[in-house]
Amino acid sequence: MSAPAPSAAHVPVLLEEAIAALAIREQGVYVDATFGRGGHASAILARLGPAGRLIALDRDPQAIEAARAITDPRFGITHAPFSDLAQVLDRMGVAQVHGVLADLGVSSPQLDEPGRGFSLRADGPLDMRMDPTRGAPASEWLRSASEQQIREAIRSYGEERFAKQIAKAIVAARRDRPIRTTRELAALLAATVRTRESGQDPATRAFQAIRIHVNQELEELSLALPQALAALKPGGRLAVISFHSLEDRIVKNFMRAAARPNLPERLPVRARDLPSPKLRVLGRPVKPSAEEVAANPRARSAVLRVAARLA
Ligand SMILES: C[S@@+](CC[C@H](N)C(=O)[O-])C[C@H]1O[C@@H](n2cnc3c(N)ncnc32)[C@H](O)[C@@H]1O
Repeated sequence: MSAPAPSAAHVPVLLEEAIAALAIREQGVYVDATFGRGGHASAILARLGPAGRLIALDRDPQAIEAARAITDPRFGITHAPFSDLAQVLDRMGVAQVHGVLADLGVSSPQLDEPGRGFSLRADGPLDMRMDPTRGAPASEWLRSASEQQIREAIRSYGEERFAKQIAKAIVAARRDRPIRTTRELAALLAATVRTRESGQDPATRAFQAIRIHVNQELEELSLALPQALAALKPGGRLAVISFHSLEDRIVKNFMRAAARPNLPERLPVRARDLPSPKLRVLGRPVKPSAEEVAANPRARSAVLRVAARLA
C-alpha cells in the first residue's frame, strides 16, 4: 500500500529526523496532531505495515479537505484542535498510541494564501485564524481589545521592543476607521517600528504576536502536551517541532518536568518510594541542517525535541 505524495504546497520540516524520532513500529498506532498537507503523515504511512494506523488532526478545514485525497484505510483525520486530543482518541476508542508528532505553527498554504490573512506581504482580510469556523478574526480583536491588551500580547508573543508604540498607533488608527486588511496593518507597523532587524520585515514580530494570540497557540500547546503524554504506551515517542522560542520553552519545560520524579508534597520520602518519572528526554534538540535551511528557508527556526514514555 503506497502512501500518496505530499502536496508540493508545504515542504515538511525535519522530515527524516522527525520520522526517525518516532521509531515507527510497523503495527503501531500513531498520531499526527498537525496534518497540514500531510508531508509527515505520508512518511509515517509509508513505514507502517498493514495493521498500523495513523490518526491525524488539524484545526484547519483546508487541511482536512487536502487529507481527503488519502484513501488509505490505515489513515483517518479529525477536524479538531490538538487540545482535544484525549477526546478525539476517546471517541475513536483508542486507549494508547505508540507515538505522537506535533509540527507546530502554520503551513505554507496558510501563510501564502492572501485570503487567510497571515501574509504581511500580500494584501488580504486581516483574519489569521487557522480555523476560520471558530473564534474571531484578528481585525475583530484589534477593533475591540484595549490598548494594554494589545501591548501585552505584542510584547509577550512577539518579543517586540516597540509594543507600546505599536499598541498606541493601532488605537489611534482605529479611531478613524477599523484596520481591516493585512496591508493596512503592515503599513502602520512599518511606520511605527523604526529600527529594522537585518533581513526582517518590521511587521514580522507583531504579525507573529497577533497570530499567536488569535489562535491561542501557547494555550493549545500547554493543554495538548499532557494529553499526548497520557496517551503514550510505555516506550512510545513524543516528537514536537517548534518554530519560535516561546513554543520551544513550553515543550522543553514540559519534557524536563515529566523526566523528573514527581516529588510528593510530604517529605522526606524514601528513595524507593519516589514516584518514577514519566518521560525520558532523548538526545539534544535537533535543528535543520544548513542544506535544509538553504532549500527551505521556513525551516530556519525549527527545533525538534523528542522524549520516550517510561513504564
Ligand atoms: C507546520 S504545519 C504542519 C505541516 C505538516 N507536518 C506537513 O508535513 O504537511 C502546522 C499545521 O498544524 C495545524 N495546527 C496548528 N495548531 C493546531 C492546533 N492547535 N490544533 C490542530 N492543528 C493545529 C495548522 O493548521 C497547520 O495545518
